[in-house]
Amino acid sequence: MNFQWYPGHMTKARRMMQENIKLIDVMVELVDARIPFSSKNPDIDQLARDKYRVLILNKTDMADPEVTEAWEAYYKNKNFYVAKVNSQRGEGIKEVRRLIQTACKEKKERDRKRGILNRPVRAMIAGIPNVGKSTFINSFAGKACAKTGNKPGVTKGKQWIKINKDVELLDTPGILWPKFEDQQVGLRLAFIGSIKEEILPTTEVALELIPFLIRQYPGVLADRYQVREQEDPHAVLDEIAVNRGCLTKGSQTDIDKAGKILLDDYRSVRLGRISLERPVEE
Ligand code: G4P
Repeated sequence: MNFQWYPGHMTKARRMMQENIKLIDVMVELVDARIPFSSKNPDIDQLARDKYRVLILNKTDMADPEVTEAWEAYYKNKNFYVAKVNSQRGEGIKEVRRLIQTACKEKKERDRKRGILNRPVRAMIAGIPNVGKSTFINSFAGKACAKTGNKPGVTKGKQWIKINKDVELLDTPGILWPKFEDQQVGLRLAFIGSIKEEILPTTEVALELIPFLIRQYPGVLADRYQVREQEDPHAVLDEIAVNRGCLTKGSQTDIDKAGKILLDDYRSVRLGRISLERPVEE
């Protein structure tokens, strides 16, 4: 399987982010807890090299808790302040508030020594599309602060959302497109639905997911679809098609339909909480 993917608006978004980054103290970066490596755009490390860094493992409700723990340790080891979050339910948000203050401790101390008191730290949210930035911002800012309009505390020009007396958030998140030279990274992004069908056809993605599931989470496919977890992924997908009554007009098994069912089930957590990558210590 070979594919190329290069969205055109990448350069513009990156430029905008570069401009906005000058205004902030701390970069709050979201990754998908199911693929905390592949959903992390490496450009951000360069862009935010002078900033304090908070990494959010988002959608932890969809990921394997044990693997998420391992990722938390991995990124802590790389000097990130790490939070495990479910933005949809607002879980872990308090911890993010705390971590932002801890991350900026040094700056606050510097401010204090220069006689600057009570200046809130300024933060920016960034991440690849669909990682949960808007959901997180809503949860983090809360209803009261979400609509900033003409309220006091909102600076003219750039819009800042005043979270509380300690934090202000830039209202435009930094959008970074996923980046991959490595085909495995592209595939994992496709598993979670971050790469469109036109670039990576569903059936091919499903055929790649099957051996991964059999290896890492044996029994999951057998339980859900009553299939034999055999080596040939085509045979497995074919059995899923048979057992789910997916037939073409000519009464052949419709593996495209079966592939769609499998991916939908994975993305809706009907196969359970499954992480698609584990940290590898260099
Ligand atoms: P973005 O701004 O980074 O592009 O992402 P956005 O917030 O739009 O979130 C993308 C999808 O991910 C949304 O689902 C959102 O509800 C979901 N999401 C965000 N955070 C979490 C989380 O922690 N856990 C889970 N399970 N889902 C999360 P959607 O299907 O596009 O819309 P909807 O289902 O909310 O209607």
